[in-house]
Amino acid sequence: MAKSEWYKNMSVYQIWPRSFCDGNGDGVGDLWGVLEKLDYIKSLNVDAIWFSPLFPSPNADYGYDISDYMDIHPDYGNLHVFRQVLDGAHARGMKVFMDLVVNHTSDEHRWFVEGRKDRNSPYHDYYFWRKGRRTRSGRRLPPNNWSSVFEGGAWEYDEKLDEYYLHVFARKQPDLNMANPRVRAEVKNILRFWLDLGVDGFREDVITFIAKDEGLPSSYPPLPVANGINHYANRPKAHDYLKEFKRDVLDFYDCFTVGESPMTTPEVALRYIDEGGDKVLDEMIAFSHMEADCFMLDMLQMPFNLVKMKRAFSEWQTKLQGKAWNALYIENHDHPRIISRYGSEEYRTESGKMLAAMYILQRGTPFVYQGQEIGMLNINLPELGMYKDVMAQNNIDIATRFMPRSTAMKLLARSSRDNARTPFQWTDGENAGFTEGIPWFCVNENYKQINAAQQEDDPNSLLNFYRAILKFRKETPVAVWGDYKEYYPKDRNFYVYAREYEGKRLLVICSFTKKAVRFDAPEDFDLNAGRLVFSNYESNFFIMNGFTSRPYEMRVYYFE
Ligand code: GLC
Repeated sequence: MAKSEWYKNMSVYQIWPRSFCDGNGDGVGDLWGVLEKLDYIKSLNVDAIWFSPLFPSPNADYGYDISDYMDIHPDYGNLHVFRQVLDGAHARGMKVFMDLVVNHTSDEHRWFVEGRKDRNSPYHDYYFWRKGRRTRSGRRLPPNNWSSVFEGGAWEYDEKLDEYYLHVFARKQPDLNMANPRVRAEVKNILRFWLDLGVDGFREDVITFIAKDEGLPSSYPPLPVANGINHYANRPKAHDYLKEFKRDVLDFYDCFTVGESPMTTPEVALRYIDEGGDKVLDEMIAFSHMEADCFMLDMLQMPFNLVKMKRAFSEWQTKLQGKAWNALYIENHDHPRIISRYGSEEYRTESGKMLAAMYILQRGTPFVYQGQEIGMLNINLPELGMYKDVMAQNNIDIATRFMPRSTAMKLLARSSRDNARTPFQWTDGENAGFTEGIPWFCVNENYKQINAAQQEDDPNSLLNFYRAILKFRKETPVAVWGDYKEYYPKDRNFYVYAREYEGKRLLVICSFTKKAVRFDAPEDFDLNAGRLVFSNYESNFFIMNGFTSRPYEMRVYYFE
């Protein structure tokens, strides 16, 4: 089937199911809850839903450790209710994408359980089982010096087999050996299973990690986190495997794929997504624009650097222009809330609107993460015991090597993924309307002020702004197809860019400060000739082709 490019003008809503909406009163979000909210999702003017993993999982990494790829977690429902959600989404004109997590499984997956029982089991070679090394004095060492992204070393020893298995993420997430053709055949079955059920595509979890260098060599000099990554990120074989999945399965369906690729540059991403090249994925999720207030990891914080953020966005925009399509996002389940990071909690609605316009009007497919559209904020958990995320303990262990524990705890509170995983704030009623039971995770106390119900009828709310801008983007060709050009890249207050398509232009002006700063339009724009299509303040006059900004002011002008 010829693949169409419908994904280029769609926008996507991401659901992290555990915290979206509880339909059966057990305190955990589920598909019955999603069913109730399909009209709400549609009302945002999105065209698709991406579900973070819905599959059975012991939840060591909240669904990203899968124990059965062809079923639904009993916490979330069953295949019957999933079909209802799928049909309900389709009936409303929305596509549905699943999360494909095949770099690793859960250690409770049948394949791992079987392979662990017996070295001669066909499942043994589904994973990386290796003998340890010995020091001269006879001490046992893991097979190489790689470290895990989540928990200490990347190898776990099994007494009975006298072997280690590899886990790049948590101990309970053993890596699959994709070099084994049987594993690839399993992946293809998983893809077919969901596509045949009617899903429309996949977000592919850490997909650029699926090939490991032959011989699994140690890596020097060792990095404090994810040592060994140079031997498992973007190895040439990863492209081969994806090509095989495409050739044998995906090409038979009109479906969409977006890969996730930590620490990737546009050049590397293009190997997978270049439309003029050997394209194996439709889009790639970038990370560099999420590092403007930290160094590589959210935990290693630095003051927000606007120039760094702009450079990252512009690099992806310009390097992909005419070649490939961007995946645009500023929030997901892996990062703290964006207003608490790049915006201002004090100017929550203003900065929330500014951030929305800032990324949604770039070239690419916008993704909106649940709660982002109502401006949910970080929860800042005070005690380690309150965290749910497996990463929290690891980050504290690493950070306390370099700093006092109290400082590390402060950094964790601001940077933890748990900030984005608190229950969705639907109303100002009990448990923010998320559940009638006891919520599985604490509800942010600010739910009385910040909730969807309260924003529903307010024409100036952030929620209604998201609806309007997503609608505008879809209906305005220059917002979808226009070329991107940045102005004043070194400016420390404003992010300014233009889009241009078939004689129409958009000028997007975003202030990232609460200070009053004079803005002068670029020479090739006469604000008199433009129509103001979005702003986050009333009365938007200008003087001499510019204005003095109000806190986090945003304006979007349209030129015909
Ligand atoms: C991806 C997911 C993240 C998960 C990790 C390991 O980065 O987005 O949530 O923890 O992969 O599966």
